[in-house]
Amino acid sequence: MAQMNLSASSQILLLNSVGPGSRKVHRIGNCVVKAYSLASDAWYEYNALSTVTGLHPANVAVPVPIGIRQNTNRTFVFTEYVEGYSLVPKVFLAMFVKKSRDIDLFHDLGIALKSFHMMEADGFDESEIPGEPGALKARIEDLAKGVAGVGVLDPSLTRQLLNRIGGIEIDDRIFSTVTLHGDFHFWNLLISRGKPVFLDLSHAKRGPCHRDLATFSLCLWSSLCYPLSGAKRLRYLAHAFLSGYYGQDFAQACSTGLARSVELSELYEALREIDLNLKVWHKRGYETKVWAKLKIRRLKTVIENVILPHLVTRPEKLVWSTDKNLHSCAVRHPL
Ligand SMILES: Nc1ncnc2c1ncn2[C@@H]1O[C@H](COP(=O)(O)OP(=O)(O)OP(=O)(O)O)[C@@H](O)[C@H]1O
Ligand SMILES: [Mg+2]
Repeated sequence: MAQMNLSASSQILLLNSVGPGSRKVHRIGNCVVKAYSLASDAWYEYNALSTVTGLHPANVAVPVPIGIRQNTNRTFVFTEYVEGYSLVPKVFLAMFVKKSRDIDLFHDLGIALKSFHMMEADGFDESEIPGEPGALKARIEDLAKGVAGVGVLDPSLTRQLLNRIGGIEIDDRIFSTVTLHGDFHFWNLLISRGKPVFLDLSHAKRGPCHRDLATFSLCLWSSLCYPLSGAKRLRYLAHAFLSGYYGQDFAQACSTGLARSVELSELYEALREIDLNLKVWHKRGYETKVWAKLKIRRLKTVIENVILPHLVTRPEKLVWSTDKNLHSCAVRHPL
C-alpha cells in the first residue's frame, strides 16, 4: 500500500484547473488529495478505487487509495500520486505525424479498457445508459429533437439524421454489460511506465460498454484543445483503440457494422453533451457560459462534419494488414 508522505517541505500543487462546480485536486508529496462537497461521492470513488485495486485487472491500474478524511464541509480522498504522461499532447502531434508507436499505444488502451470492463466488480451503481437498440435510437431521437428545438441543430439536418438512424442495424456487442469507467476521456488517463492508469472513478458504473468506447473517440473529435481540422485525421487512432478492445472480432466487424454502431453511440454522447451544456448555460456564471457555448458549437460541428458523414454514407472499407498490430491498416474514408 502506498504511504502518505506529508513532510513539512512537501509542496502543495493544484493539479486541475478549477472551474465552477469542479473539485479541487492537489498533489501533496507523493499523494493526491481530492476534495468533495458530498461525503457520499467521496466514499463512492474511494470504494471504487479500493475494489479495482483489490481485483488488480491485467494491463491497467488505478491510483492506490490511501485514506479518506472529513471536516465540517468537505470530504477528502487521498490516493497515491501517479508519475506518468498524458495523452493530450500526443494526440495533438498524431494529427500531423502518423507513428506506429501511437497506433500501438491506442491498441493497448483498447486492451486495457477491455480488461477493466471485464472485472466482475461489486458495489457499483447501475447506469441509466440505453442498453438495447430501440432504447438507444429513442434516446437519440429525443435528444436531437430537444437540441433542434432550441435552434442548436438545423431542422433539415435533424430530419436527415433521424431518417438515417432508423435504418442502421446496431451490433449487439456495444450493449455488453461491463464495469464502466463512466468518464473515459484523455484527462482521466495517464501512461505510467508504459501501462495505462485510469484516474477519476467518480462515474464508474455497471452498464453497456458503448459509453466508454464512444466517450473516448468523441474526445478525439470534440476536445477544445485540438483544432477541428485535425478531427478527421484521427480516425486511425480510434480504430486502433477499437481493434485493441474487440480484438480479432473488430477486423471482420467493420463490414458487419460494429464500428458504425460505436459511431451511433458517439452521436448519442455528442447530443447528450450538448444537452448537458445547455442546462449549464441556463444556470451558471459568465465563465461557464462562454465554455458551454464553445463546447456546444464544437459538438454541433462535430456532428455535422465528422459523425454524420460517416453515418450517412456507405460503410467505409477497412483494409487490414496481416500484422497483428495493424500497423499498416489503411482506412479509406468516404469523405
Ligand atoms: N493519482 C493521480 N496522480 C497523478 N495525477 C492525478 C491523480 N489524480 C488526479 N490527477 C490529475 O488531476 C486531474 C484531475 O483529477 P480528477 O480527474 O480525478 O478530478 P476531477 O474531479 O475530474 O477534476 P476535473 O473536474 O478538473 O476534471 C487529472 O486530470 C490528472 O491530471
Ligand atoms: Mg476528471
